[in-house]
Amino acid sequence: MIIRKLEKSDLGERVAWMNNPMIFRTMHFTPPISLENTVAWFEKNKNISTRCDMAFEDEAGKLVAMGGLTSIDYSTRKAEFYIFVNPSRQREGIGTMATKLLCKYGFDILKLHKIYLYTNNTNFGARKTYEKVGFKLEGVHRDEMIDDEKYDDRLYYGLLAGEFSSSDVEMTIKGCNSLIVERHSIDGFDFSVVRDDLYPQSGGV
Ligand SMILES: CC(C)(COP(=O)(O)OP(=O)(O)OC[C@H]1O[C@@H](n2cnc3c(N)ncnc32)[C@H](O)[C@@H]1OP(=O)(O)O)[C@@H](O)C(=O)NCCC(=O)NCCS
Repeated sequence: MIIRKLEKSDLGERVAWMNNPMIFRTMHFTPPISLENTVAWFEKNKNISTRCDMAFEDEAGKLVAMGGLTSIDYSTRKAEFYIFVNPSRQREGIGTMATKLLCKYGFDILKLHKIYLYTNNTNFGARKTYEKVGFKLEGVHRDEMIDDEKYDDRLYYGLLAGEFSSSDVEMTIKGCNSLIVERHSIDGFDFSVVRDDLYPQSGGV
């Protein structure tokens, strides 16, 4: 699987997925989501340093998931995580791999200390996915959501850099790998400095 920056050409599929109940029911988008508003959202956000929106491709180059890190706070080095998988490709392991890749990107490239997220108690697929990657349940906000006319708890999960194991994750960042120019090792921790305007948070060092 490949991780890359979200592009304008992805937005047609993004909108189609977001208007699918398999996505909007658990992510609290209110359909209909329009392409016009999504393009405006993209143009407004594409270069801001407090978020990165990414796309995931399979080996055949097909778009399989989208996700991102938002509310990036460089003083505490934390960010909020989101993910959604192509509605016709769920339960194939894509969500797990995309979550691992995005966490690896957050910890290794953005140098985050913590990645956190909110999900519904009844979103069993999401909870299983996050727990498999190592997220820990940190809090329960009781009856904060309504789903199908029933109250649901909102769960807060967190993952610290030191808890994340990415030994089984090979990260290929499309459009960027050729520009990774420096590799460093400090106290046994290996990392790369990326000089690429795709990743303003870490580029230009
Ligand atoms: C949640 C989501 C990202 C998971 O992605 P996915 O590709 O379907 O997940 P995976 O195939 O990697 O499955 C991971 C685990 O969760 C389980 N799982 C996935 N969907 C499930 C479901 N609906 N119910 C129960 N378990 C489920 C899988 O069986 C697997 O467990 P296993 O390894 O023991 O077999 C995806 O379902 C999705 O996009 N949902 C809609 C958007 C959303 O809710 N995003 C999260 C908002 S917080």
